[in-house]
Amino acid sequence: MIVVNFKTYKKGTGKEGLKLAKICSKLSKRIYLAVQESDIRLISKVKGVSVLAQHIDAVEYGAHTGSILAEDVKKAGGRGSLLNHSEKRIPFNKIKFCVKKLRKLKMKSIVCVKSVLEAKKVAKLKPDYIAYEPSSLIGGKISVSSAKPDVIKKVVKAVRIPVLVGAGVHTKEDVLIAKKLGAKGILVSSAVVKAKNPGKVLRELIK
Ligand code: G3P
Repeated sequence: MIVVNFKTYKKGTGKEGLKLAKICSKLSKRIYLAVQESDIRLISKVKGVSVLAQHIDAVEYGAHTGSILAEDVKKAGGRGSLLNHSEKRIPFNKIKFCVKKLRKLKMKSIVCVKSVLEAKKVAKLKPDYIAYEPSSLIGGKISVSSAKPDVIKKVVKAVRIPVLVGAGVHTKEDVLIAKKLGAKGILVSSAVVKAKNPGKVLRELIK
């Protein structure tokens, strides 16, 4: 499984995001695209990709101006959400609320964690996936697979939930090492979204 996080990169926003989504859709059926909330409706129309929100808020229908409501994400075509990404951390009680809400709506939850300890705590909530991402490596050239193999192993061993890993992933080697260490997939952003030829990079990663 591959999650491409479009973040708020220009090439992952609006029409440019749509173009990128179409490229991704041709390469694999197991690709999830985490896009900005305002692009979910547009990008979920692309056949062959599953769209995720990058974040949802811990709210129900009501007076919550500016919040991202899981029900609305679903209606727009979203299949789930990332939660607690390093760039959008939320308190544990809100992670709990959102995982429960996503489960109720039959949507996927991918909760990001920074450590084995946090993975163990989050695992109790039974999200669909736990994503281990060391924040210091995000957006860089050194991958989680090469810098933190021991932690990946420990996270995989510590939880009974499929583990994804992300941060600095940019080569096929990174993907293979992660897989060998027990990860069920990867999260990738800058290497694909900011690439001159994103299709080529992605093809290489999933080959
Ligand atoms: O969610 C994935 C992301 O944080 C990893 O970013 O740019 O290191 O691939 P990047």
